[in-house]
Amino acid sequence: MSQIKVNNPATGELIEEVKVNTTAEVELAIENASTAFDSWKKVNAHERARLLKKWYELIQLNKEEIAKIMTLENGKPLKESLGEVNYATDYIEWYAEEAKRIYGRTIPAHQDGKRIVVTKQPIGVVAAITPWNFPAAMMTRKAAPALAAGCTFIVKPAEETPLTMIRLVELAHEAGIPEHVVQVVNGPGKEIGEVFTSSKDVRKITFTGSTPVGKLLIKNSADTVKSVTMELGGHAPVIVAKDADVDFAVTQTIASKFRNAGQTCVCANRVIVHESIVDEFSEKLAQEVKKLKVGNGLEEGTDIGPIINKGGYEKIVNQLEDAVEKGADVLTGNEYEANYDKDCYFVQPTVIKNANLDMTIMHEETFGPIAPVISFKEIEEAVKIANDTPFGLAAYFFTEDYQTGIQLYEQLDYGIVSWNDGAPSAAHVPFGGMKESGLGREGGTEGIEPYLETKYLSIGNVE
Ligand code: SIN
Repeated sequence: MSQIKVNNPATGELIEEVKVNTTAEVELAIENASTAFDSWKKVNAHERARLLKKWYELIQLNKEEIAKIMTLENGKPLKESLGEVNYATDYIEWYAEEAKRIYGRTIPAHQDGKRIVVTKQPIGVVAAITPWNFPAAMMTRKAAPALAAGCTFIVKPAEETPLTMIRLVELAHEAGIPEHVVQVVNGPGKEIGEVFTSSKDVRKITFTGSTPVGKLLIKNSADTVKSVTMELGGHAPVIVAKDADVDFAVTQTIASKFRNAGQTCVCANRVIVHESIVDEFSEKLAQEVKKLKVGNGLEEGTDIGPIINKGGYEKIVNQLEDAVEKGADVLTGNEYEANYDKDCYFVQPTVIKNANLDMTIMHEETFGPIAPVISFKEIEEAVKIANDTPFGLAAYFFTEDYQTGIQLYEQLDYGIVSWNDGAPSAAHVPFGGMKESGLGREGGTEGIEPYLETKYLSIGNVE
């Protein structure tokens, strides 16, 4: 394959062909990034901040155009693409500021005549592999802290959505960030991933994507002892306690569950509702979900775009069929449409009730617009269901009772816990998961640390 065909998942139309980089070209990109690191690391923090701010401004100036590219290649509704461009630039703005706050410290010495100093320095060349579901934000939340720290950065976007990334990198160069300080390479993940992980010059791999691919990247990074940051799969529970504000919980569950047609790592995947309110909650949820309009993301009023590809579509349909076979009641949805010739797939947003723990959907990430509702009696049972997964990315709960709230917060084994809030993501917070959902955090003050080495200087014989 010498070209990637980028198609519109809503229509099957070819948008553009993108050249696949050869192994030699990826190796050259790494070599260039390595050479560029020698000068970029010496650019002072205020200048790096200024360049990042300029990048932020250029993306904001071109945001309508970028959002349109994103909707064309990813399918998400234009309003969500615009939201994502803002979210993506939030990371750049935040880390432009953080560049100026990479502090070291001094430590009181244990002997006379000694001084102890701790400093931070950039880790080196960073290689990133980013997913199709957030073509802009998953890149900027890696690139912005890396560049702010003084690292050079190479990114390989998902084959489904390289166009947004190519535009973002063009704008970075237009902003004055040198060509070899931020680069994009295109091609199959496996091949490029191997070039990245086997290179001695790449000092860090940062990845957002599936847990199996993350595990492979971690294994392959071992030989050269690279630093890794992994943002992997999720299987988010939503617990609705008996004292929850039901209407509010419904709105927030929809915000979480149906963002990007359910193709989000932090999407609600299991809705666990107290038995006393499960009927009311499920009916209200179904009523609201019925109003969501499925279609082409470029069309006004679309809430749910297409499913990205055949693999994603078949996984959703299989989970749905399995749930119905095992006794789930469909309250709305359970309709889907595949055009295999055009490679276009749509799934109606679906609410199913009476889900049980034998169903695949209760154990595997769906990455689609299906909300399975299961009931519980005691809060301990809800916590047990919620934690019964190898994943630990995001968990949501709804309660008006602070005792229940604190208990849930403390007992849920998740990196992101959201109390009465269906939208916890932001540039200034630490995003990431426990268990097989990942390693490290992105965003916030935590998000720049993985791009920095800590260096300690011991000075002796001071008069
Ligand atoms: C993801 O799905 O990986 C990211 C979602 C977010 O940043 O909110």
